Amino acid sequence: MVNIRMATVNDLIEMQQCNLWCLPENYQMKYYFYHILSWPQLLWVAEDFDGRIVGYVLAKMEEDETKPPHGHITSLAVLRTHRKRGIATALMRRSQIEMHEVFGAKFVSLHVRKSNRAAYHLYNETLKYKINDVERGYYADGEDAYDMRCTFGEEKKESEEMNQLEAGVEKVAVS
Ligand SMILES: CC(C)(COP(=O)(O)OP(=O)(O)OC[C@H]1O[C@@H](n2cnc3c(N)ncnc32)[C@H](O)[C@@H]1OP(=O)(O)O)[C@@H](O)C(=O)NCCC(=O)NCCS
Repeated sequence: MVNIRMATVNDLIEMQQCNLWCLPENYQMKYYFYHILSWPQLLWVAEDFDGRIVGYVLAKMEEDETKPPHGHITSLAVLRTHRKRGIATALMRRSQIEMHEVFGAKFVSLHVRKSNRAAYHLYNETLKYKINDVERGYYADGEDAYDMRCTFGEEKKESEEMNQLEAGVEKVAVS
């Protein structure tokens, strides 16, 4: 059983460790602190039965006032041992709901490598993000990124999604 819960400051080191295991895009601890101190509702973790962090989502609100309020997924990862169980979907949905309900986000954006089929499937097929743009050479190794966006619907629809999530995910408890 994996528990999905809001992250606390005590989780940040394990979140950073999980990020180091899973992705080449890494961040200094101060960047994690910046996120949790600014938008604590947007950081979620998946915790194993023994309290180990096996997945996280790190998200923020963009501070560009020329656009409607919107969130951004900075980083998402699930340990290899725990993939394909709906954990990333649950983490993303929780952060998106808070982004919309707490911070009034109208949409959420993210970047994903063109070659990242697992993440692309999650964003496009499961969470209904659309490609907004292609950013050439976005990553340090020169790979292009899809700039993807998901526009939030009515609050009712979000709540319905949450109900579906709670009813439908067998191995993930949401707290
Ligand atoms: C991308 C990642 C977060 C997905 O995590 P996960 O917990 O396995 O995802 P879920 O179980 O919620 O799966 C969501 C959907 O993606 C699909 N999916 C997951 N892994 C997949 C893969 N390797 N290939 C194709 N589809 C995949 C699932 O089947 C599911 O589809 P469905 O909703 O149609 O049934 C995980 O693979 C990971 O941590 N990868 C390394 C880090 C990374 O790439 N992060 C994203 C950076 S943008």
